[in-house]
Amino acid sequence: MSEAISLSPLLGAVEAGRTAGCADLVTVSRQYSAAYQDVVGRQWETGDIPHLAHSPHCDYLVSSKSTMTTIDRKKLHTLHERESSRFVADHPKSAALYARAQSSLLSGVPMNWMKKWAGAFPIFVKSANGAHFTDVDGRDYIDFCLGDTGAMTGHSPAIVAEAVARRAKEGITFMLPTEDALWVGEDLQRRFGLPYWQFTLTATDANRFSIRIAREITERSKILVFHYCYHGTVDESFATLENGSVAPRRGNIGPPVNPVETTRVVEFNDLNALEAALKHRDVACILAEPAMTNVGIILPDDGYWKFARELARRYGSLLIADETHTICASPGGCTAEWKLDPDMLIFGKTIGSGIPGATYGCSEEVAQRISARIHLEDCDVGGIGGTLAGNALSLAAMRATLEHVLTAAAFERMIPLAQRFNNGVATEIRAHHLPWNVMQLGVRAEYTFAAKPPRNGGESAAAADFELERFLHLYALNRGVLLTPFHNMALMSPATTEADIDAHTKLFAAATRELTS
Ligand SMILES: Cc1ncc(COP(=O)(O)O)c(C=O)c1O
Repeated sequence: MSEAISLSPLLGAVEAGRTAGCADLVTVSRQYSAAYQDVVGRQWETGDIPHLAHSPHCDYLVSSKSTMTTIDRKKLHTLHERESSRFVADHPKSAALYARAQSSLLSGVPMNWMKKWAGAFPIFVKSANGAHFTDVDGRDYIDFCLGDTGAMTGHSPAIVAEAVARRAKEGITFMLPTEDALWVGEDLQRRFGLPYWQFTLTATDANRFSIRIAREITERSKILVFHYCYHGTVDESFATLENGSVAPRRGNIGPPVNPVETTRVVEFNDLNALEAALKHRDVACILAEPAMTNVGIILPDDGYWKFARELARRYGSLLIADETHTICASPGGCTAEWKLDPDMLIFGKTIGSGIPGATYGCSEEVAQRISARIHLEDCDVGGIGGTLAGNALSLAAMRATLEHVLTAAAFERMIPLAQRFNNGVATEIRAHHLPWNVMQLGVRAEYTFAAKPPRNGGESAAAADFELERFLHLYALNRGVLLTPFHNMALMSPATTEADIDAHTKLFAAATRELTS
C-alpha cells in the first residue's frame, strides 16, 4: 500500500479534518498509516494535531504523551479502601445473604464469576425493570451491565413477559416444534441473510455445535480464534498466544486436552498471521466476533473482513461470526451493518430478553454439506443436541423480543445514547489528561486504559488495570450505577434514558477528579 500512496492526500485530509472534525481523520489515519510511517518514521497519531485531540467529533481520543496524567497508586489504594468500607456499610442485607450462602453455594455464589464483582460480596437483586434494578437493601441502580447483554432489551420488557407468561401456562417444553420457531427462523433470515437456523439454550452451545459442523464437513481438526477472544465456555477457545506460540489461557480450569492440539491463535487485524495459520489447511473454521468485545472494543481495520473472508475461502476454512455481543451494532449485528458474508452465525443472550435461548444459522452450502452427513438413526446422539433446546418457552421469548423489542426503531434510539455516553466519558478523559480512550460500537460503549484504541487482543490486554477498574466500578456502584464486572463496558437498552447516561458521566467525572487531583 505504501508505494501507491503519497503523503499529500494525508496532509490534505488533515487540513480538511481541521474543519471537519476527527472522525474523518480516523478513516484517513487507518488508510494512510503505512505511508505516514514510511515517511515520518513512526505511526500516525491523532495527537500529531493537538487541537484535533480536543474535537468533540472524535471517535476516540488520543492524549498527547507530554501531558498524560499518571495514576498515583497510593491515592488509588486509599480511595479504594474508602469505597470498600462505604460499600459494606450500605449493603447489610446483601452481606447477610452472602454470609448465609457460604454454607450452601460453592464459594457463596450461584456461579463462580459472580465473585468478581467489585466490592466484598455481590449485591443481591430484588427486582428489575427496564434499565434499573433494586437490591435487597432497597437501593436503586442504573444498569449499564444489563446481564452482560442478556438484558440488552431492558429488564423484563412487558411484551416479552406477557408472551412468556402465556406460553408458560400452555406448555413449556415438548421435544416438538411450535409455530414460533418458524417465525423466528424467518426473522433471522431477514436480519442476517443466512437461510437455515437451529436453536440451543446458550450461545456457548451454539458455538460448540457450529464448530462440530465445521469439523464434520471440512474433515479438519483445528479451529482458529483470535488472541484474547471469548466465545463462552468452548474448550477450544481457551487458547492464547505466548511469545508467538499457542498456549492454554490463564485460569483455564481442567482443560480436556491442551488447546495447542485443537486451536490456532492469531492476533486480530493481522492478515499475514491469519494467512500463515490457514495455510496449514487444517483449520475447520475461524470462530470470530466481527469486532472483538470481550477485551474492550476492538474494531476491524478497513477491509479486514473482506480479505479475511477471501483467505478463509482460499484455504477451505469456514467463517463463523459470533454476533452474541456484536448484535449491539444493529438489528442484524455487524454482519448486516458491514455486509459481512459468514458461513455460519451465532446469536444468543439477548435474543429472548434473557430467557435462555440462542441460535446458529448457516449458508445454503453448509446446510447441504451437513445434511448429507447426518443420518436419521444417529441424529439424536451426534454430539449436537440438548433436551430443552428449541423449547416452546425460549421460542416464545425470542419471537416477542425480535418482533417487538430489538427493532430497527429501538436501535435508532439506543445508538445516540451510546454516543452521548462516549462523549461524556471522552470529555472527562480529556479534561484530566488521562491516557485512556473510549470506543463505541452501536449501543455499546467502553473505555480502556490505553492511550490509543487497541488494534488487537494483545494490545488491549496489555492496557488492562485490574485495581483501577475495580475502583471505578465500586465508585459507580456506591453511587447507583452498575457497569459490567469484567471490563469497562456500558450497554444501552431501549429503556435507558439520557438522564441515566448523564448520571454516569457525573460520577465518572467525580471519580477521575478525585483520582487525579
Ligand atoms: C462473544 C460471545 N459468544 C458467546 C458467549 C457465550 O454466551 P453464554 O455464556 O450465554 O453461553 C459469550 C459470553 O460472554 C460471548 O461473549
